[in-house]
Amino acid sequence: MDLDGIAARLGVPVEDVERVHRLAGDLPSAPLPAKADAPAILARLAVRPDDAAEIMAGWPDLGSPLWTPELRWLLDRSTALVRADLGGHGWLVPGPELPRDRGPAWRHLYVYAYLALVEVAVGYHRDHGIAEAVSWTTLADLGRNLAVDRRMRGEGWPVMQSWLTLHARGGLYELGRLQYQRGDTTLGLHIPESGPLTPQAVEASLDQARAFFPRHFPDEHYTTFSCGSWLLDPQLLDYLPGDSNIVRFQQRFELEPYEQPEGIDADVEVLRFVFRTLTTPLDQLPRRTALQRAAVDHLKSGRHWQWRRGHFPI
Ligand SMILES: CC(C)(COP(=O)(O)OP(=O)(O)OC[C@H]1O[C@@H](n2cnc3c(N)ncnc32)[C@H](O)[C@@H]1OP(=O)(O)O)[C@@H](O)C(=O)NCCC(=O)NCCS
Repeated sequence: MDLDGIAARLGVPVEDVERVHRLAGDLPSAPLPAKADAPAILARLAVRPDDAAEIMAGWPDLGSPLWTPELRWLLDRSTALVRADLGGHGWLVPGPELPRDRGPAWRHLYVYAYLALVEVAVGYHRDHGIAEAVSWTTLADLGRNLAVDRRMRGEGWPVMQSWLTLHARGGLYELGRLQYQRGDTTLGLHIPESGPLTPQAVEASLDQARAFFPRHFPDEHYTTFSCGSWLLDPQLLDYLPGDSNIVRFQQRFELEPYEQPEGIDADVEVLRFVFRTLTTPLDQLPRRTALQRAAVDHLKSGRHWQWRRGHFPI
């Protein structure tokens, strides 16, 4: 296997290619669904028409000139790498980040891997007695993430880079308003962009989770809900009214002492989640909502946002 050659032709560090080769080994990949079935599957995954059209245009048909041997190798081995950790719930990088400006095969390689894994994930859910509706709601985070990526004009996270491997491995479930990441004794909460975070919606979702995990994962014993987010920064209390959803969400948690998390810059995360742009100058960002004004004023005054972790008992 000419890993150096693959890395050079993909334009990525050879260590990244060696890692994929090492973790995927000779393990089985998973086939993509039939192309004729893909539009219906993409619709079930909430992929919007413009994203779906791009994905269909780049489909890895046999002999497609868009798919060089090294791209096909990476698609196959990345799918095998993620599949090998089916049931896992840690962060997993599916492969090297690829340049996005070389067409749909490059831009969406990990989306094709996700599509190949949909049936594997649904099978895993079925083995755990999980209702189909939960499977598809959970897996439909693909469409949401592609839409955000489009809004961010490629400035965001590459889609399927780690985050969506959780969904594909059965490590994360969307139950009502929140998503839950399995852990050792802790269920990690994630907050998708899907409307207001009302206390009622949160409570209903937590109740769903309290029933769901003992039922479908009886060998796992969860004692705590936890969350790491810019939403838990107590400095937000200086700006938002006491009855705002974010403040009421914060009040559920016991905050852990502040530690600058490795690899996360909370200022960047606030820009990502509040404005969906990372490069617009502060002066040109919209000031329509209380949070938008807070985000900008805080940064302009030279202060910084914090990425905070918190927890509360189940
Ligand atoms: C989490 C979220 C649903 C909270 O929204 P919410 O329920 O409207 O929150 P609040 O009621 O506390 O909002 C208070 C104020 O901030 C505004 N606001 C809240 N979230 C906002 C956002 N992401 N962008 C812009 N303004 C926002 C509200 O409009 C309101 O302002 P207003 O009174 O001037 O209208 C929302 O921020 C969101 O969708 N975020 C994206 C996902 C995310 O950040 N996940 C966490 C990743 S770690």
